[in-house]
Amino acid sequence: MNRADLIVGAQWGDEGKGKIVDMMAQSYDVVCRYQGGHNAGHTIVVDGRKYALHLIPSGVLNPKAVNIIGNGVVVAPNALIEEMKQFKNMEKRLFISDKAHMVLDFHSAIDLAKEKLRGKNAIGTTGMGIGPAYASKIERVGFRLGEIRNIPKLVDSVMEYFRVNRVIFKALDIKHASKEELTAEFEEYAKELLPFLTNTTALLWKYIDEGKNILLEGAQGALLDIDHGTYPFVTSSNTVAAGACTGLGLSPKDIGKVTGIVKAYCTRVGNGPFPTEDFGEEGKLLRANGYEFGTTTGRPRRCGWFDALACQYAARINGCDELALMKLDVLDGFKKIKICIAYEKDGKRYTTLPENLDDIKPIYEELDGWESVKGVREFDKLPKNAKAYIKKIEESAKTKVGIISTGAERMDTIIL
Ligand code: IMP
Repeated sequence: MNRADLIVGAQWGDEGKGKIVDMMAQSYDVVCRYQGGHNAGHTIVVDGRKYALHLIPSGVLNPKAVNIIGNGVVVAPNALIEEMKQFKNMEKRLFISDKAHMVLDFHSAIDLAKEKLRGKNAIGTTGMGIGPAYASKIERVGFRLGEIRNIPKLVDSVMEYFRVNRVIFKALDIKHASKEELTAEFEEYAKELLPFLTNTTALLWKYIDEGKNILLEGAQGALLDIDHGTYPFVTSSNTVAAGACTGLGLSPKDIGKVTGIVKAYCTRVGNGPFPTEDFGEEGKLLRANGYEFGTTTGRPRRCGWFDALACQYAARINGCDELALMKLDVLDGFKKIKICIAYEKDGKRYTTLPENLDDIKPIYEELDGWESVKGVREFDKLPKNAKAYIKKIEESAKTKVGIISTGAERMDTIIL
């Protein structure tokens, strides 16, 4: 039976999925996004030209691949239209689920206003309106892309939403769009997006039956999952493998190989627990060497050491067949490299991820560093200490490493 392969983030997002998906997308016929929205993002450089992708699957850079944005994605139509301008002749190469919910301007206004009110308790969202858009969906008052087929009806239901929520808009001091403004906005969306809307589940089933090679591209990471992450400091979708089923209309039996992407260290943006965060010079060095600044918001990322417990947890919940270990070269030149192999709290030692990560203390093992792995393309040519570090990750995370990335270039990759 033909199955779809899956790429998931196995930390707090920003693991370097972009590079792997871009590489792999070259040999797939169909590439799909299934959750998240334009809070995700990566830049891909091809032949010296930079492409910024937030919503369009990475398969767009393979001229032969078809790209699908599934029902589980929340789509900001204006952001998508802007992103599409980077590419020509997208008809028949991009299909968008008519069931995907829209992120409208007022969603991001609510996101920003509530984050401001939360002050020091803020989640640290990207401010893109992702939470409020998923909240509208779950509250059953959201707006699906397919509704732009009947603009007067859609405008009426958005106006009705404004009426029901008028107290909230007033309290948050948000001025919402008028009926006329909404009509003009949706007419623009209809003009640009209607040709791409379809029943993507039926399309995907057809591709599976035809034996096409299908790649599913996750956004964010396991520890940001709405159910299984460090709640409430999470995003609003299921970032774990199961999200690929609901977000596309696939069954678990449709999923084939699962690759979990991890960096050789850890980063996180926004607030929330991060046990291996390094507040000292080494954390700063990781940020500088790894250029750890958000692609979507430009925020500096919090940096720290590889967390084997978090990785073990992510590998189990996603059913990872293998890990892709990214940015190994960022650790070049460190005399000692730490890896968190247990936690401690109130005198108790944990070797699996506990429910609550507050005030948890990481227990590290220190390994000797190496001079350079930058650009190494064969496993045998890696320094002995880098090999030992990879082995330690495999043992402590209980998952084998199948891919190692040693630089930003597509070619700086070791496939085992
Ligand atoms: P939201 O997804 O904008 O609601 O943000 C919720 C949390 O998820 C915040 O901590 C964000 O920093 C984080 N987040 C959302 N998208 C990404 C991403 O693509 N990479 C890393 N963190 C993300």
